[in-house]
Amino acid sequence: MPKSQTIQHRFATDGLTPALIAQFQQLVYDHFQRHGRELPWRTASSPYQVLVSEVMLQQTQVDRVVPKFSVFLARFPDIASLAAAPLLDLLAAWQGLGYNRRALALQRAAQAIMEQHGGSVPAEPLVLTTLPGIGPYTAGAIAAFAYNQPAVFIETNIRAVFLHYFFTGQQQVADRELLPLVTATLDQQRPRDWYNALMDLGVALKKAHPNPSRRSVHHSRQSAFQGSDRQLRGQILKLLVAEGKISPAALSKRYPNEQKRLPRIVKQLITEGFITQKGRQLQIAN
Ligand code: ADE
Repeated sequence: MPKSQTIQHRFATDGLTPALIAQFQQLVYDHFQRHGRELPWRTASSPYQVLVSEVMLQQTQVDRVVPKFSVFLARFPDIASLAAAPLLDLLAAWQGLGYNRRALALQRAAQAIMEQHGGSVPAEPLVLTTLPGIGPYTAGAIAAFAYNQPAVFIETNIRAVFLHYFFTGQQQVADRELLPLVTATLDQQRPRDWYNALMDLGVALKKAHPNPSRRSVHHSRQSAFQGSDRQLRGQILKLLVAEGKISPAALSKRYPNEQKRLPRIVKQLITEGFITQKGRQLQIAN
């Protein structure tokens, strides 16, 4: 099937017969054969590597994750090394991925895996959701990619596929409406291959059409970065990673236009466990 035809095809939402499911699966796998991506976490990845990749991919684009992923694994090759890492090293390795809270949650997840799961990433989605930073969708993705479990989950690219083929023209579609279709069409024999193929088709659909995900009630653009608290938090952490220590007074001098926000943001970073104040100096915690 030529690509354009593949992408134009539509499926009715009701009357999802075995034949229609088979046809849809064929379409998804055909696309994967022609246009599937080779990504570093797809080949011979350990459950730990899958965990790391899925947390990185939660809020960061694939192209930005790819180079960081291999550097991160070289520095933290297994759960134990991540669990034991100084936060400074962890944040240094996380630079460029954004949303540093994820790094902290990922390390806390690694520590919980060491302490409560004998050092092995759990395979059960419900158990995975008990770990810091792992919501139901990330849990499903880890179960599917790390353990080839037929878990049901949605992320932005998967959402795009189901909106495109099953909810053509409909607005404000909720995941609750998509989930039965994700369940019904899932390739029970090859969940890992299936979800890789679905995601790659979703990426292609987003490029070929006005992003179908905009018709999801869950669609949200990342809020503006310029001038945001998130930006200033990131700047403070980057500065502390690079320089080790700084006094609140010196920090104020670096950001003369941020006198109002700085104390609150520093306090937040302390409360969340990113930084500590020792004497007159702020520094990365532990
Ligand atoms: N987004 C979330 N998980 C992903 C994965 N495994 N591959 C590509 N994009 C993703």
